[in-house]
Amino acid sequence: MKVKNRQKNKEKKKIQFPFERLFNIKDLTNFIIYPIFLALLNRAPFLSLPSKPFLYFVGSTILWYIFAERTIKNNRYFHLHMAYRLTFFSVVAFGVFINSFLPSLANAKLMPEMTPIFLSVSMVTVLIGYQEGIGSGLFMSFLASANIDNSFETFILLSVVVLSTTLTTRHIERRIEIARAGFEVSLIFTAVNLVRMILQGEPINALDLAVAFANPILSSVIVIGIVPYIEYVSRIYSDTGMLELGNLSHPLLKNLSIYAPGTYYHSISLANLSEAAAEKIGANPILARVAAYFHDIGKSRRPQYFIENQQDGINPHDSITPSMSNLVINEHVKQGVELARKYRLPLLIEDIVKEHHGTRIKKFFFHKAKTGGQEEHQEDFQYPGPKPRFKESGIIMLADSVEAAYKSLKKPTPAKTQELVEEVVNGIYNERQLDQTGLDLEDLEKIVEAFTRVLMSMNQPRIEYPKETVEKVVMANGDNSPKQDGKDNRLEKSE
Ligand SMILES: [Fe+2]
Ligand SMILES: [Fe+2]
Repeated sequence: MKVKNRQKNKEKKKIQFPFERLFNIKDLTNFIIYPIFLALLNRAPFLSLPSKPFLYFVGSTILWYIFAERTIKNNRYFHLHMAYRLTFFSVVAFGVFINSFLPSLANAKLMPEMTPIFLSVSMVTVLIGYQEGIGSGLFMSFLASANIDNSFETFILLSVVVLSTTLTTRHIERRIEIARAGFEVSLIFTAVNLVRMILQGEPINALDLAVAFANPILSSVIVIGIVPYIEYVSRIYSDTGMLELGNLSHPLLKNLSIYAPGTYYHSISLANLSEAAAEKIGANPILARVAAYFHDIGKSRRPQYFIENQQDGINPHDSITPSMSNLVINEHVKQGVELARKYRLPLLIEDIVKEHHGTRIKKFFFHKAKTGGQEEHQEDFQYPGPKPRFKESGIIMLADSVEAAYKSLKKPTPAKTQELVEEVVNGIYNERQLDQTGLDLEDLEKIVEAFTRVLMSMNQPRIEYPKETVEKVVMANGDNSPKQDGKDNRLEKSE
């Protein structure tokens, strides 16, 4: 009844404001205010408008729509976090200004070679994506060529630099590879300038070529220095930054390995499964791997409440009510989100921590409550959610359940493993937990294949070595498990 009323109200609203899109402030900003601001910023160092101002401003608006808005519309992360748009726009605005300011200091002939277009295009590519890098780069080429000589030829020359920058910085995994990309783009920029001079019958100018060569190399040094700051402030990480977080020496992971070793090893297995699945469906395997390491960091606060950490056979859930167990288990999601914020982990990793159980029901505790004679509703035993909202998050949810189910499989064979993986994936799909992830059935089939392959390779039989008699020189004495004082202060100790 309530739902029906809400729908009616929505329809009413639509009838009341038939032209609401015309007054939509968000669209106005995205399609008009951003490009006009950038076009003005581009002329700021010259303190004048270009020779054909109408064409310049209309052209900027249309090209911004074609190159930027259309590209980011398909990027799921822009719909999840405002930080993506803010970071994208800030980097582009910085790029527009610097592409205009530096050439304004040079003479007219040196202006194209002085344009440091590598700088902002490579930053957009490594932080956000190569399509956004190409889109914003072509828009910046238009603005820069309007400053230089209003020629199509300059636009093409700068666009070649944009395309080579995105191609060379597309799959960067180590910071030093940005320097290599800078060197490669330097060679391309110099070669293109040389060809231009020859075709135009100009004398070959060594200074022009030297500037064209130095420009991307120097820009790459600045990019290497500036990207970690942007990552820290925006919590949008490049693959390089993400890999640095995932090198297992992060205090949160060290803490997990000491106080919740079962969860730590579960996370490592999950990382292998998730990475393989992400690779198979063309999602981001680095994000999937690193997010898997961190997905259960909230368990480090009360590790003994999770079965993988119960080594001595004592299960604290035996002495509390199912409703209390439900709360304690929910808490690991909440604590995980708090820790992700405190340690400024990437926004997408925080999302995965929050979404990895979606709104699933803790069936074990629900049935325990029911058989105990309590009046309980199934919804009360749901995880707080939300459901996964992008592909990598969906993969982690699937891998988490598959990994847990696989542990209970006796004498696993490829056929039994595949059957189990299919059962888990189908179950989660039928619960409609994956509706917002963008994963289709073809993706799910590939994920099942990837999971089965990884699980089977994790379970390879080893060669049995013949036993030898060895003289005993060392012996472990006593308990070597980490000392626990019962207080909830483990993270504070490691900080
Ligand atoms: Fe979890
Ligand atoms: Fe987990």
